[in-house]
This record gives sequence, C-alpha cells and structure tokens, in this order.
Amino acid sequence: MESFIIEGRKNLEGIVDIGGSKNAALPILASTVISGREYIIENIPDIEDVRDMFEILTIMGCKIQFDNGIALIDTRNITTHAVPEKQVRKIRSSIILMGAVLLRTGKVEITYPGGCEIGLRPIDLHLKGLKKLGVELLEKNGLLVGSVKEPLGCEIQLDYPSVGATENIMLFAVGISGKTVIYNSAKEPEIVDLQNFLNACGYSVSGAGTGTITIEGNTNQVTETVEYKIISDRIEAGTYLSAAASMKSKIYIRNIEKTHFKSITSVYEDAGCEIRETHGTIVVSNNSRLNAIEKVTTQPYPGFPTDMQAQFMASMSVANGTTIIEETVFDSRFKHVPELQKMGADITTVGRVAVIDGVPRLHGAEVYAKDLRGGAALVIAALGAEGITKVNNIYHLNRGYEKFMEKLRNLGVIITTID
Ligand code: EPZ
Repeated sequence: MESFIIEGRKNLEGIVDIGGSKNAALPILASTVISGREYIIENIPDIEDVRDMFEILTIMGCKIQFDNGIALIDTRNITTHAVPEKQVRKIRSSIILMGAVLLRTGKVEITYPGGCEIGLRPIDLHLKGLKKLGVELLEKNGLLVGSVKEPLGCEIQLDYPSVGATENIMLFAVGISGKTVIYNSAKEPEIVDLQNFLNACGYSVSGAGTGTITIEGNTNQVTETVEYKIISDRIEAGTYLSAAASMKSKIYIRNIEKTHFKSITSVYEDAGCEIRETHGTIVVSNNSRLNAIEKVTTQPYPGFPTDMQAQFMASMSVANGTTIIEETVFDSRFKHVPELQKMGADITTVGRVAVIDGVPRLHGAEVYAKDLRGGAALVIAALGAEGITKVNNIYHLNRGYEKFMEKLRNLGVIITTID
C-alpha cells in the first residue's frame, strides 16, 4: 500500500490546472450504454474510479480508447445486461448503470452496492423511481434483478434530492414513451452536465439545476457520433483552495467555472481568504491565519458541499477561533477526525457535529486515509504541519485526484511516495 511522505511548509505558491469532474464523468460514461453508437468525450480525469468504469463498460462489450483525457467509446456491441460484480464492489457509483442498462437491454443484473467508508449509502430512492417508471425489480441473494415491464413516463417526487437517484431516473426516462418530471431533484452542476450530454445525444431533458427536471421520452434510436467535453471538478478546485487557505499562499487555480465553486469560495472569503477572478483564473491570496467560521452545515447543492467537509475541517484546524461543522448528508463522514487529532488538531465530535478549536500549527505524524476526501484533508493538514507527515493508504486518493503529487509539487510542496 503506497504512502505519501510530506514535508510541512509555511507557504504555497504556483499554478494548479483543474481536471475534469469525477462526478460528472461517471454518470456520463454510464449513459453511453443507452444507445449503441460512438462517443468522443473530452476532459475525462485519469483516476481510478474512471478506470474502473471503463473496465465495467469493456467487460459488457464496449470498445474504449483513452488517452490524454479523451475517450473514444464504441457501445454498439453490448453483450450482457449483467454488470460485473467485482467492479461494482470497487465503485459503488456504478449503480447509475442500472437505468442505462435497463433502457438498452430491457433487463439488468447488478450487485447491491454495499455501504462504504462514509455511510450506509441506501438506494431506495433509485429503486422507487425506476419502479414507478415501469421497471420490475427483485432482489435475489444480494443481486438486484430488473426487467422493463410497461415503461411509461410519469411524475416522480424524490424524498431527498439524491444525486444518484436523479441520475438513474434520468438515464432510464430519456428513452421510454411519455413525459417524466422529477420533483425535488438534485441541482448539482454535474446533473446539469449530464442533462447537456443527454441533449447532445438527441434526447430532450430540461430544468437541471432548478430542482425540477422534465424529460420528454424519445424512443427512436439516434446513431451518429456524439462529441462532448466534461465540466471541471469543483471539488478538486476546492481541495487546492483549502490547502492555500491553511497557510500563507498565492496560488492560481485555472480551468474552473467560478459559479460552480461559489458555495466553497464564499465560506473561505468569510474566513479571511482573498479570492479574486481574472480571465477565468481564480487567484487565492492568503497572508495571515484564517478566522474561524461560527458554523458551516453541509447541504445538497447549492449549499456547502459534503465533499468539501473534510478539507474545510483541515483548514479550520489551524484557524483562529472555534468552528462548528454539521454533516447533514452522510451518516459517517468524520473518519478523518482521529487522524487529524494525531497531528495535534483540537476537534470534538458529537454525532454529526464537529467542534474545531483552531491551533496555531499542527505537527507531522503517521496517519491513515480512510476515504477519498478524508485522505485529502490529511494531505492538506500535512502541508502546513511542523515536520514530516506520512499519509498511508493513498489508494483512496488515487480514486478521485488526478496527478495529485505532481500538482502539489508545482505548488512548491516537498512530497514523495513510498510503498
Ligand atoms: C454523489 O453520491 C457523489 N458521488 C458523492 O461524491 C457526493 O458526496 C454525493 O453525491 C452528494 O453530493 C458521485 O457523484 C459519484 P446521494 P450519491 O444519492 O449519488 C441518501 C465524492 O467524494 N440516499 O445524493 O451516492 C444517502 O445515503 C463522492 O466524490 C438515500 O437515502 O449521493 C446520503 O445520505 C462521495 N437513498 C444522501 O442521500 C437513496 O436512494 C446523499 O446521497 C440515495 C441516497
């Protein structure tokens, strides 16, 4: 298992180019299964989760060439409706293949994706929506077996604006007869990107980003090649912002859409970080210790993202004052807390609430990444800590951060890996 060895420092300077969004790429790759054609998709991040999705699509019969962020995907020859179990266990987000495989083949077999490091991760909202659209779903010893019975568009009210449930319903509803309206849908920029991709494929989806998505079902097969470019990764951008905010810094964050990132930058501006935009580049200047923020609560978009909670906690661990963070989206997303405490962070948690009393500086330690964003938080803490930090289990980080070590080195960080 690889580890990072990071030498703490007092400042960060340099340029970081943001890659394609992991959470836009995964549903868009899943939706290429819907109709058999060729796709040329740009700005795909070269990360483990994407590689795992490519592996699933290849096992199911697709042909994929991937180089320098561009994928040429041929889905004309899907050979099975069974999503390979081994890979589903590696990335639970492959559950969004359900809607696409059902639409393409009329059937699906997929392993119930278990919980993961951040919580139980139920899929009841996915299943409820698909059943309402005319899918019969049975569970047989941990396997979900679905078949399309009488597909017809309808109105669906989501009990919670689930990103995955919204995506699965969209990927099935686009290709059946009738109109589907999803109320209380997720509003994330990645949902808007999926809508734009589906429309580029000839489907009719509108309203993404507003909380109500309308889909005019379209059963005719369109086969010409589709070209598309994925949006940038707002969480990757927020992760580098958190690093810059944790010490004196001046960094230039390039290739990010400022509006996607607003709920993150506004919190850091409140904490005293100077953030400005020039020619599409976000310039972050931090000349003094951040001030604590009284309370931040994670919310579905456009609220403060749960995927930034751990990174924000690392920044606040060295802020001036006390910050309260409430995690309302996942039920077990504080696994980075004991690791930050090993580095001297003063954090108390009660249920889904963490109270962070900022200390002047953390110190190096040997710590363990437990999940993707918690691992990023440990790296952020290590960057500004006194001395050397060893971050173990960095395979978690490889799932979602492309060229992480290279990008940190470009900001002046002394970082190496060891096995
Ligand atoms: C997506 O996960 C993202 N993953 C997550 O990013 C992100 O944290 C999450 O959305 C929220 O923004 C991808 O897009 C691949 P949800 P998803 O369905 O779709 C509950 C990262 O670090 N729920 O919006 O699984 C669920 O338990 C990852 O990049 C149900 O109860 O998120 C959770 O508490 C982590 N029933 C809440 O909703 C359901 O049927 C949010 O889940 C579905 C979800």
